[in-house]
Amino acid sequence: MWSRLAPAGNFSSPLAVLQTALRVRAAKRSPSGSSRSAAELERNLKDFSGADNVTLTSDGKQALYWALLAAKALLGVRRVYLAGFTCPEIASAAVKAGLRLHPLDVAQDSLQWEPGVTIPQADGAPGLLVLSNLFGLPDSIPTSISPEMLVIDDACQSLLSLDQLNRRVGSRAALGIASFGRGKALSGIGGGALLFNNDHTLALPLKAALKEAFSNREIAAGRWPGATDDVMLTMQEALKLTCYYTMEQPPLYGLISRIPGTGLGNVSCELEFDEPRRSAGSWLSAVTQLEAAKNDIKHRRVLMQKWKQELTGLPLHQIVSSDHDQALTVLTRFPLLFESRDQRNLALQLLNRQGLGASASYNAALTEMPHLKPYIDQPHCPNSSSLAARLITLPVHRFVTDKTIEQTSSILKQVCKC
Ligand SMILES: Cc1ncc(COP(=O)(O)O)c(C=O)c1O
Repeated sequence: MWSRLAPAGNFSSPLAVLQTALRVRAAKRSPSGSSRSAAELERNLKDFSGADNVTLTSDGKQALYWALLAAKALLGVRRVYLAGFTCPEIASAAVKAGLRLHPLDVAQDSLQWEPGVTIPQADGAPGLLVLSNLFGLPDSIPTSISPEMLVIDDACQSLLSLDQLNRRVGSRAALGIASFGRGKALSGIGGGALLFNNDHTLALPLKAALKEAFSNREIAAGRWPGATDDVMLTMQEALKLTCYYTMEQPPLYGLISRIPGTGLGNVSCELEFDEPRRSAGSWLSAVTQLEAAKNDIKHRRVLMQKWKQELTGLPLHQIVSSDHDQALTVLTRFPLLFESRDQRNLALQLLNRQGLGASASYNAALTEMPHLKPYIDQPHCPNSSSLAARLITLPVHRFVTDKTIEQTSSILKQVCKC
């Protein structure tokens, strides 16, 4: 029934978005108490990711937070190992869960762990490694890690990608994380999920441990806080649905991000964060994105090749390599490395003046973020700092046209001559 409302998969027009809102109003609860759309999303996500069990959360950051809190309560984890150059929201979730941060440096040409990276096991407590799989590029799992190390495969940006061994990102460790926020691999209006892999019993002990460790009404009732699925749309969801069609189009990015109350366009580095409530609106928008994934994957693969070809010959390092052509890498952003910070900043300024959807993602390494410093055990990640100063990412979604690519390339050529 849903595909009739959005025949092209993604929201094909503002009307399709409106139809979603109407369908949300008509959503009914299943006998188990959760909305049908939440159950449909859990089922579809299970099929797509191969997870044994899927539990919805209010967003990707909350999924990480609960996973990390459970790892601390259940397994005595005290420290999170993560890339020095990564999404700061991962660090915020870890700090909120009461864990120390140990950033590991990454190679500048590939964003991968340095060959032979070692993960020190300090105080005898088990460690936990988060793979952040930025921009759709699957991280490798370091061969040197000890068998006791818990790994979280964060697929927020890479759920559509397969790695070199043909494994879906999000499925390569006991726990995977998904997000349905704007600009993610499944770009909906919000929401997230915990993907329990290999061991379908993992979900229950995690919940039981949390229930014991923290007296929280919602956990005690068998639900993760935040994974609400009210039948009524929240105000923020209604605003986001209204803006959805417009907000995907590069020239309008900036405009939409400025509308107060939508929470769009920002990566939040705050250490204190709320759990937004979700309704069937969020779950349905994610179901739609999942149904569109097949077309989206094709389109993003074509765009990856177009960017590669168009930018070949410029003195810019393309992080995407021929390995990514062979494996089924599906980008959420196309990353490029400039020779200097000044060149990168000039390019960003000129591209953004034309509304071409370029972004620095991310402006600083974790070790350089003042609010994280008190929680960091390893204060130097020189490669990550250099990456943060010189990286730019370009869009690869369905509204990127040949004209977008030509205009971008012409600006980049101009900047490289400076
Ligand atoms: C790799 C990664 N993990 C987790 C998150 C948090 O996801 P959400 O925005 O759904 O809270 C993000 C968000 O930018 C991300 O990029």
